[in-house]
Amino acid sequence: MRGRRAFPATVLVVEDQQANRELLARLLDVHGYIVNCVSDGETALASIEQESPDLILLDVGLPGIDGFEVCRRIKQHQVTRLIPIVLVTGLHASEDKIKGIRAGADDFLLKPFNEEELTARVGSLVRLKRYTDDLESAESVIISLAMTVEARDPYTEGHCERLATYATALGTQLRLHDDQNAALKRGGYLHDVGKIGVPDAILQKPSTLTGAEYDVMKRHPIIGEKLCGQLRSLAAVRPIVRHHHERCNGSGYPDGLCGDAIPLLAQIVGIVDVYDALTTTRPYRNALSPDEAFKELTKETERGLHRADLVREFIALGRSGRFDGIATNIATRKSRSA
Ligand SMILES: [Fe+2]
Ligand SMILES: [Fe+2]
Repeated sequence: MRGRRAFPATVLVVEDQQANRELLARLLDVHGYIVNCVSDGETALASIEQESPDLILLDVGLPGIDGFEVCRRIKQHQVTRLIPIVLVTGLHASEDKIKGIRAGADDFLLKPFNEEELTARVGSLVRLKRYTDDLESAESVIISLAMTVEARDPYTEGHCERLATYATALGTQLRLHDDQNAALKRGGYLHDVGKIGVPDAILQKPSTLTGAEYDVMKRHPIIGEKLCGQLRSLAAVRPIVRHHHERCNGSGYPDGLCGDAIPLLAQIVGIVDVYDALTTTRPYRNALSPDEAFKELTKETERGLHRADLVREFIALGRSGRFDGIATNIATRKSRSA
């Protein structure tokens, strides 16, 4: 065995023939991998559910459910879809290759095995898996940060979750693309993540902010955008984070954008952010009823702050009873908008 890595990768070998299983296990062990072996598809799926490997070497011709079906099921599942799968096929199996690609396989290995080819393929896919793991954890760190911000401010309990609900409901009503709705949901959770850079004394101040304090608070969209950084998975969310306080007449911040220069998804989150602030109790006034909040939103729209058609759709949704449960829950909570 060559020197073990500090965090060795785990490979699941799914192969019904004992001799092949042992050969693969031995070759991978020599290269420092932790190897688990199973001999059929059912056991493989059960094993993956228990513990997610870094890579799966999957024989095509298995007893019971075959390798293609096992591959398909793993790739269809939200939790397991990013585990790389190398399909092990017989010689001259070009048909198998096409079926394998359709099933979502990441790579192929021909029998009989060539040690160099095996370790090269496994090595590069494990590196890729580590990279996507890092990206996923970076995203969850940012989402945890957003939850931490909410927890720091007693006035905003549940604010992010409600925003995600309102924004995706409006997005669905407007027949936006699934990707846009997914961005609205994440944007609901992440829009105020930049408040992590706003001191408690300002964030938790029970009275009106001074001009200087408000200037500090107004930096949160820029800080939030920076936190989302270069993560590709958050690319669609970044404009929401930066521009959710812009207003159509140019009176918003941080860039004073006007009208359609404000990204649509940021306008949607901006509208539902105002609604949520109005329908939750603030230190200096009680929550408005949904109807009163709709009137206030309409007044703001007449003053040129929001896009009229978006507000109209949102109010229609609210009046249809779409948010009733949420509104009752929040009536007793405290909130301050920013
Ligand atoms: Fe907010
Ligand atoms: Fe905000």
